Amino acid sequence: MVKICCIGAGYVGGPTMAMIALKCPDIEVVVVDIAVARINAWNSDRLPIFEPGLDEVVKACRGRNLFFSADVEKHVAAADIVFVSVNTPTKTRGLGAGKAADLTYWESAARMIADVSKSDKIVVEKSTVPVKTAEAIEKILTHNNKGINFQILSNPEFLAEGTAIEDLAKPDRVLIGGRETPEGRKAVEALKAVYAHWVPEENIITMNLWSAEISKLAANAILAQRISSINAMSALCEATGADVAEVAYAVGKDSRIGPKFLNASVGFGGSCFQKDILNLVYICECNGLTEVANYWKQVVQINDYQKSRFVKRVVSSMFNTVSGKKIAVLGFAFKKDTGDTRETAAIDVCHGLLGDNAKISVYDPQVTADQIMRDLAMNKFDWDHPQHLQPMSPTATKQVDVVWDAYEATKGAHGVCILTEWDEFKKLDYKRIYDGMQKPAFIFDGRNVINVDELRKIGFVVYSVGKPLDPWVKDLPAAPPS
Ligand code: UDX
Ligand code: UDX
Ligand code: ADP
Repeated sequence: MVKICCIGAGYVGGPTMAMIALKCPDIEVVVVDIAVARINAWNSDRLPIFEPGLDEVVKACRGRNLFFSADVEKHVAAADIVFVSVNTPTKTRGLGAGKAADLTYWESAARMIADVSKSDKIVVEKSTVPVKTAEAIEKILTHNNKGINFQILSNPEFLAEGTAIEDLAKPDRVLIGGRETPEGRKAVEALKAVYAHWVPEENIITMNLWSAEISKLAANAILAQRISSINAMSALCEATGADVAEVAYAVGKDSRIGPKFLNASVGFGGSCFQKDILNLVYICECNGLTEVANYWKQVVQINDYQKSRFVKRVVSSMFNTVSGKKIAVLGFAFKKDTGDTRETAAIDVCHGLLGDNAKISVYDPQVTADQIMRDLAMNKFDWDHPQHLQPMSPTATKQVDVVWDAYEATKGAHGVCILTEWDEFKKLDYKRIYDGMQKPAFIFDGRNVINVDELRKIGFVVYSVGKPLDPWVKDLPAAPPS
């Protein structure tokens, strides 16, 4: 029986290994992590991450051929294939701070693999890493050559949170990069055989190590670029009276462009896009490619612009001040169907509003109050450095309130900001919300989920990203509309 061990039981390692175990009953899969609490959660009825369909997959194979353990070394030693899916945070200090990936966790995992291995192993890069990481890892693995053959493969993950199970079950493609030597090719074939249990052969693409590493960064950079492109257009639409949804529809109908990833929003978030682009920028700079680095940097800059533009709209529409006003924030996760808040636009928007002394009341169906308070107290990039967590800031505790219902959040509020596209926000009773709010009642939709005309009919002053502006938002008249 082939034995797989995955180091890192996070958003990537957990669901990916659960899918391999489900589709390959003849393979034993053990997911290990140094975070004992996380492992305990994976072994309980309340999994550490919320992901539609994940519970069912884990229940079907946990205890059969899927195991979660904190005994990292034992399971690594026993494995034929070791996936490494540890965090690769952005460096906060030193060379490349704010851009380069911090490979501390990766390096310590690699050293541990080298130390405990007594048999040949295939080591698979699963977390996104800077190009040429495989080379560094190879050096670490072979540092005290004990006659063990390590083959390093790059097998980047393309699952998106909220649809992880679907993405894993029917991936557009699986990429496997390896050394172009007979041993390298054998290792690629061994990993290919795992995926071939359920992925059609033509969707498993093999290539050299560096192409696989670059492909991952390139895919995320180009996806993020589409969002920044449409978000840049949203500003122009607001300025001219065009409707960004109509523009995106028209543009996406061109089969050379396609309709996906053209939704204007308050800004992209998540653990990958910004991090991968900054990584790409750093790699370009290190290779003397200043123009290329600047080109990609702009994708992140437009994203920051979009978030600050949103905050400015809120403040200027509400008579240039939100000081002391209650603002309801609906949605805090970086997208719907996940409880993940890493790099969520909501953090920057809330910081902006708190900076203007607003009182905010947050409701998100999946994010805990603790998480929201922690996020608002963190510095940029702290989210990926669990050991550097800041204590909750006094401002956040005084000015932020987290509630478990959209009606509670909006009660007595002057304004509402929709920051995540949760389906339930489309079905809220907005008349009831309007009746409970201060007048004029403002609503700022950062996700284009509400029906602008219906809400205007109820009496709301409405702003929706990239849509023709409400005269109120634009002209800020002194008296409320009749
Ligand atoms: C373009 C648009 O495609 C068309 O919809 C619009 O109405 C007019 O402008 P055109 O300029 O005729 O049409 O040709 P197009 O096929 O778009 O190519 C434009 C340039 O891009 C060419 O020089 C082509 O060689 C280049 N190109 C195109 C690339 O370098 N790489 C590609 O992948 C595609
Ligand atoms: C992304 C990639 O999609 C995935 O392939 C990669 O492996 C990891 O990074 P993820 O970050 O989980 O996945 O979510 P994704 O669906 O890509 O959304 C990222 C952000 O972009 C979210 O904040 C989302 O709301 C935003 N987004 C997405 C838009 O603002 N508009 C869109 O049209 C699409
Ligand atoms: P991702 O979104 O890439 O899956 P996460 O932060 O959710 O990232 O998961 C990474 C996991 O890797 C964390 O649970 C962390 O505890 C674990 N980890 C980091 N370093 C090691 C290590 N040396 N050995 C085992 N687990 C590790």
